[in-house]
Amino acid sequence: MSRASAIEIAGLDVTFGRGRRAFRAVRDASFSVTAGSSFGLVGESGSGKTTVLRALAGLLPPAARIRGEMRLHGEPLRPARSRPLRRRLQMVFQDPYGSLHPRHTVDRILGEPARVHGLDSIDRRIVDALADVGLDASFRFRFPHQLSGGQRQRIAIARALIIEPAIVLLDEPTSALDVSVQAEILNLLQRLRREHALTFVLVSHDLAVVSHMCEALAVMRAGEVIENAGVETLRADALRHEYSRELLQAAQGYRTTPAGMPPAER
Ligand SMILES: Nc1ncnc2c1ncn2[C@@H]1O[C@H](COP(=O)(O)OP(=O)(O)OP(=O)(O)O)[C@@H](O)[C@H]1O
Ligand SMILES: [Mg+2]
Repeated sequence: MSRASAIEIAGLDVTFGRGRRAFRAVRDASFSVTAGSSFGLVGESGSGKTTVLRALAGLLPPAARIRGEMRLHGEPLRPARSRPLRRRLQMVFQDPYGSLHPRHTVDRILGEPARVHGLDSIDRRIVDALADVGLDASFRFRFPHQLSGGQRQRIAIARALIIEPAIVLLDEPTSALDVSVQAEILNLLQRLRREHALTFVLVSHDLAVVSHMCEALAVMRAGEVIENAGVETLRADALRHEYSRELLQAAQGYRTTPAGMPPAER
């Protein structure tokens, strides 16, 4: 019955700064993510969601102190990441404007990670990665400013997928987008997860999105994971912790299905 864990975090602690300036952004956080599933990470602004993703991705500043355990498919994750390990785990950022180099073409943006990881047939991979996210090959020669917000986020997703990771960490992947485009990108992510058998960790402040996309979730508050639950608990409005229920109520216009999306097939 129990499927293997793709990610396990146990007692994770992240502290920024030293001495009196020290700030513990993540406190004794634990959760595990089943391989091939989509896991939601929710919580108010500043609760530590991005910090957890960055810790997993090895993207925290070197001065950050990290304690506790992180495992990827059972293997301990250390701060120094080997290239094969980095290849297995990719992150997509909230802001597709900030995350794509403004003076690089799509061709270069997609080609670079493939080259860094020593992959062959780069041209074919670029064309395939574009097709995967619903863009034709003519997009290769555009710059980020010549793309719409949705197209830009498609490129950011293609850049994460071109090196064929097993796990994708998505930090508010649609919050910078218009509502109609949000649904398109979420549907695209669902399809890509199925087709590539990916494991997702999805940070979102939108509980409708988590309800639609995820099988399980963790609720963070002030650096702590205060609740781990299956999505059916969220849908039944039966979250255990009062704060989690408040978060659910506060999610304005909460619907179990995001606007423009078909109801979840469960
Ligand atoms: N590099 C850093 N140096 C010092 N403090 C940091 C650093 N990065 C994050 N923090 C602090 O850690 C806390 C958690 O930040 P984090 O970005 O993880 O929150 P979040 O849950 O992702 O919030 P949001 O929903 O607004 O994106 C915040 O108080 C933030 O100011
Ligand atoms: Mg964040």
